[in-house]
Amino acid sequence: MAITDLPRTIQWVDGTVHMIDQTRLPLTGDLLVVNTVEGMVTAITSLAVRGAPAIGAAGALGVALWSQTVGKDMPAADDAYLDSANAACDALANARPTAVNLPREVENQRARLLADAAAGRTPAEIHEKLVAAAVQVCADDEAANRALGAHGAALFEGPTNFLTHCNAGSLATSFYGTALGVIYAAFEQGKVNHVWVDETRPVNQGGRLTAWELLVAGVPSTLICDNMAATVMREGWVDAVVVGADRICANGDTANKIGTLGVAVLAREFGVPFYIAAPWTTIDMNTACGADIVIEERDPREIEGITVTGGIEPDSASLTMGLDALTRDGVADLPLTKGHTMQIRRKGGAYAFDGWFKNTPTHVRVFNPAFDVTPAEYIAGIITERGVFAPDALGDALG
Ligand code: MRU
Repeated sequence: MAITDLPRTIQWVDGTVHMIDQTRLPLTGDLLVVNTVEGMVTAITSLAVRGAPAIGAAGALGVALWSQTVGKDMPAADDAYLDSANAACDALANARPTAVNLPREVENQRARLLADAAAGRTPAEIHEKLVAAAVQVCADDEAANRALGAHGAALFEGPTNFLTHCNAGSLATSFYGTALGVIYAAFEQGKVNHVWVDETRPVNQGGRLTAWELLVAGVPSTLICDNMAATVMREGWVDAVVVGADRICANGDTANKIGTLGVAVLAREFGVPFYIAAPWTTIDMNTACGADIVIEERDPREIEGITVTGGIEPDSASLTMGLDALTRDGVADLPLTKGHTMQIRRKGGAYAFDGWFKNTPTHVRVFNPAFDVTPAEYIAGIITERGVFAPDALGDALG
């Protein structure tokens, strides 16, 4: 059990992108091989890859995929080439609206491509550079996380009880994590007593991903429902809250997973310092304040029911024959009552299932914002690879 046992979240492998399918964690550790821009957009919107720095990497790698599958074989970096590149960049940049890392990394790739095309480089030459740049985004992200982890760990003196919300761990980045990066660095220094993990309804990034990561890394932790955070703080069992960020505005207002604002308000009420941990790429000096952030609203079904995925390992020839027959033409949709859905597909020598079970009334009205904004005044410090800053001092840090 160690941080080194965690998988690489996303990486370029032989002209394709390999990622851990986070919709299936922690019950199945599926590797998703993505080899088209359309596949990458689906991976981002479906949350197979998620977390601000990880979708930034996905955006950069997505542009490299466009080049791999379309651009590099075009005869010249002409208008047709640029039209195709721009369409791919637009689709990737707009896949999710809130985290700034995604459009930032896609626009960096687009700018590179446009400059090289204007300079008369060939599609093959541009391809080399796009792939190298995307690989570098992943490496830089890990380096930033390790550096911010060290800065964050230095804030704490002795064994500390942390609370975190959502997953700002290794899985939300190329590797290591932001909020969990701080916790991993503190753990290596013997400064972690315990970590409280908010479940993070409705998609359960805390319960599914953070709880799993901390177990793999050997960090002592306890999972709680979101509505239990007040109790553990009231009991005095939390010394510090550390969470990640999707977009930090020029004035320090910070968007993060829905529920973060509630945790920040509780932390202030109970006198617990509330920290944001994020790489500099999550800071958006072009967005003045939280009111200017577009908050993603997601599918109501995330609230109307629960998703369960898993595998079937048949233990008899007759069951195997039945499942083979069911999945002969691909994905089998089983007829279920009450609006539930169940799909079964072949997977290697076994079978995988995806179930969605409705547990709310039919026609219920649902509001499902994926993020909220914590005002700067609730934030004790923003932990970055450049050091720890007061939320109103980000501009000064730029010099
Ligand atoms: O919807 P998600 O899972 O992409 O939301 C992720 C978060 O809100 C994280 O806390 C944030 O991106 C920081 S990840 C280092």
